[in-house]
Amino acid sequence: MFPNLTVIQHPLIRHKVTLLRDRRTATRDFKALVNEIAMLMAYEATKDLPLEPVEVETPLEMTDGAQVAGKKLALVPILRAGLGMVDAMLELMPSAEVWHIGLYRDERSLKPVEYYNKLPDAATVQVCLILDPMLATGGSSSATVDILKHWGAARIKQVSLIAAPEGVATLSAAHPDVDIHVGAVDRALNERGYIVPGLGDAGDRQFGTFAGPSSEPGHAPGDETAEVVRRLQRNLVGDD
Ligand code: PRP
Ligand code: URA
Repeated sequence: MFPNLTVIQHPLIRHKVTLLRDRRTATRDFKALVNEIAMLMAYEATKDLPLEPVEVETPLEMTDGAQVAGKKLALVPILRAGLGMVDAMLELMPSAEVWHIGLYRDERSLKPVEYYNKLPDAATVQVCLILDPMLATGGSSSATVDILKHWGAARIKQVSLIAAPEGVATLSAAHPDVDIHVGAVDRALNERGYIVPGLGDAGDRQFGTFAGPSSEPGHAPGDETAEVVRRLQRNLVGDD
């Protein structure tokens, strides 16, 4: 249904995503799992990076080798939750630049609100990997792609641990040229815009910031929020 979507079915990713979902997984383990899954996903998300031939001298003789071709790459974590995916990716791609984008989701409108962006005027890289554990309505990722395209990035990929179908549809419709790599696509968004079954709030679970029952996923949906979710769900099945 979405030609730009890759669901990475590796057994280790499925195993670790299951642990992430478990409400009993403590903050420290949750952070470690986000890091480990990001490292596994990096392998898949970078598999089409172009190579160029290079000669290398082993202790015995010269031989043909390959190196990732000149394209400069940036990791773009969406604050806060995307931060947990950066270190693992940097282990594998130590020369990548890291450009942070600060967005939070307004809890009523579910629209992204930008609060941090220090991108310089002109793009310094060609390829950007957007890192965000959750692709829920798709609002945060679509807004980030808008920012990066305006900046001048030529190639953009989204890397998320868990997506909702509504978010994949929104991002694909707005930016069909963006490859989307996820560890799982879940059933749906609930009326508060949380992915179900999901894993809850990825930022809060990584940073141990629980503000009490009224801030928990599934608690007291507002009418406005539920209507936003219904609209996304109608778009998904093509009723609008
Ligand atoms: C979460 C998550 C994504 C966004 C996804 O961030 O990390 O950035 O929601 O939702 P969307 O697809 O509907 O836009 P949140 O706003 O909770 O901020 P945080 O990372 O600072 O906790
Ligand atoms: N953000 C999260 O952290 N979790 C969701 O389920 C949706 C948005």
